[in-house]
Amino acid sequence: MKRIGIITSGGDAPGMNACIRSIAKYCLNNKIDPVGYFDGFDGIIDGRSIDLCFSDVDNIVQKGGTILGTARCEEFKTKEGRSKAISTLKGNNIDALICIGGDGTFTGANILSSEMDIPVIGVPGTIDNDIAGTDYTIGYDTALNTVIEAVDKIRDTAGSHHRIFFVEVMGRNAGFIALNSAIASGAETVLIPEELTDIDAIVLDLKEQSKGRRSSIVIVAEGDDGGGAKEIMDKVSPLMQRYSLRCSILGHIQRGGSPSAFDRILAGRMGAFAVEQLQNGVYNVMVGIKGGRLITCSIEDGIRLNSSPDLSKLELLRNLRTLG
Ligand code: F6P
Repeated sequence: MKRIGIITSGGDAPGMNACIRSIAKYCLNNKIDPVGYFDGFDGIIDGRSIDLCFSDVDNIVQKGGTILGTARCEEFKTKEGRSKAISTLKGNNIDALICIGGDGTFTGANILSSEMDIPVIGVPGTIDNDIAGTDYTIGYDTALNTVIEAVDKIRDTAGSHHRIFFVEVMGRNAGFIALNSAIASGAETVLIPEELTDIDAIVLDLKEQSKGRRSSIVIVAEGDDGGGAKEIMDKVSPLMQRYSLRCSILGHIQRGGSPSAFDRILAGRMGAFAVEQLQNGVYNVMVGIKGGRLITCSIEDGIRLNSSPDLSKLELLRNLRTLG
């Protein structure tokens, strides 16, 4: 292992920089050249890269976003695009590639690993936490904390105005952010893609909960089968005309900001572990964390297995409400 390529790809996530730093520093301290490619797979296809040195990755552990930039690369989905990427990597004498990203990135990395003889390792970085091969993805904890902070603020307004707020959070087709932020922010209801949404039941429930209470918060996962927060509010509204309803879509604030301590440590551990695996001849896998321990599993299994939040938390949330 003399030269290791690094990309961040897909949606940016807080902690990606901490991971780049960890990979680069671990490499430099072990006489390996870390090469960062810009804008995900795009940068590999176009041959845009930087030979990273210590000063490039100093003072980035605390920064959100990714210093390498990221993209959702369409060209990489084609065989021609991937051929260009492979010839760049070969031309740059890259011995292995580390891809930090979510399931789209991992799918790309997996195809790439089957088409070339350069080892690939995936490091899970996405706020969605929707990768089955790990308990936690880099960025999820920070996003969760951002959501909680926002919902706490919304609660102030909801309580002051006797309002019911429908708050939409990210997570694509998974309800990790929604379910866990609902519990942590004391929300009354949560709608997640993993459970069918019944509008009549929600209305009954909200009316019941509103008795003697000044506010209610409904957290809506963006991928919910009933629609986003605005759609749900529009469906509920004709059945709750005497109530003051509002919706708030948190959007991309969930992806930005300084990573939490949890994400910085996770990113630091996963980055170094990925390089260590390559040194030990372990590749074409993703790294993950299970029960607090770093593990590897095949990229295919990591993304193929169903990834769902602990649905017993729905019952917990129901038991944490104030009724009557
Ligand atoms: O995968 C991360 C994520 O933020 C999802 O939660 C969301 O659905 C999506 O990316 C938004 O992507 P974009 O920034 O490309 O609109």
